[in-house]
Amino acid sequence: MSGKDNVVIITGTLHDAGLTVLRQAGVRLQIYEGDAPIPVALLNNWLCDADALIATSAVKVGPSLLSMAPRLRVIAQSAVGYDNIDVAACHRAGVPFCNTPGVLVDATADLAFALILITMRSLGQAMDHVRSGAWFRGEGLPYARDLAGKTLGIVGMGEIGTAVARRALCSGMQIVYHNRRPRLADPLIPADHLSMDDLLARADCVLIMAPLTDATRGGFGVAEFAAMKSGAFFVNAARGAIVQTSALLEAIASGHLAGAALDVCDPEPIAPDHPLLSYPNVVVTPHIGSATEETRARMAELTARNIVRGLAGEPLLTPVLS
Ligand code: GLV
Repeated sequence: MSGKDNVVIITGTLHDAGLTVLRQAGVRLQIYEGDAPIPVALLNNWLCDADALIATSAVKVGPSLLSMAPRLRVIAQSAVGYDNIDVAACHRAGVPFCNTPGVLVDATADLAFALILITMRSLGQAMDHVRSGAWFRGEGLPYARDLAGKTLGIVGMGEIGTAVARRALCSGMQIVYHNRRPRLADPLIPADHLSMDDLLARADCVLIMAPLTDATRGGFGVAEFAAMKSGAFFVNAARGAIVQTSALLEAIASGHLAGAALDVCDPEPIAPDHPLLSYPNVVVTPHIGSATEETRARMAELTARNIVRGLAGEPLLTPVLS
């Protein structure tokens, strides 16, 4: 079969570095370029003739999608998280799936650490302060908090959590973490594994870096925020749906938390008039953990190379096995 006979659907934007690899392989690309998620009817129509799919997180891949795509031989997602993909269903249908681990670790860890700095150093308020025409702290700008000597509690200590821990250690923070199984990606990181209850009681800043699964969905609610120290900070750089937004709002509105910084929300996008956005001690960024030029290029290239291998019936470079 020549490359041109292979149809690759891309349901959103992919960095040129990936498109170049795919064009060089001679495949036919069908790219959805709208801002909103691809309409299901259009996707189903495209899937009838598709040999490969590069999905974006808004596309739910499961038995129903797979049944629309009789020719599909490989599915990829240019991301590390894949909570929208039913991997077991892909495997049952004989279609391998891959994501892009590794290449986005530093960019995502930088963003997560930036959010820790933003919230603990009150940088959102400081920027608002200057924009309002003020300068001196006495004009309403509160003191921020030191990072040094504080405890960062990382929920989900995988590769990215570990990379954040390295950054936080350089700022003099102590690290505790919670995983389902005590496991350090880097045994040289000094970090104690705690139960979730102990972590919430100890941490001055809680960072969520866990994947979204049935076990973590909605796992941060009223009880978890109440169990955090009064005056602690909360950062989510993983998935919005791990957190019950109404519970976070209550923890901020009551003054129990000193601040929050989120790169992810539930739902996304957050409505511009959402009450969370009215709090000066809440900073929200639009899910940009890996969104740097270099990292998105690496992710797209890895995705494209996986697709080319999948179409050739070769083993994928970064398959998700379960
Ligand atoms: C981004 O959210 C990712 O999962 O890579």
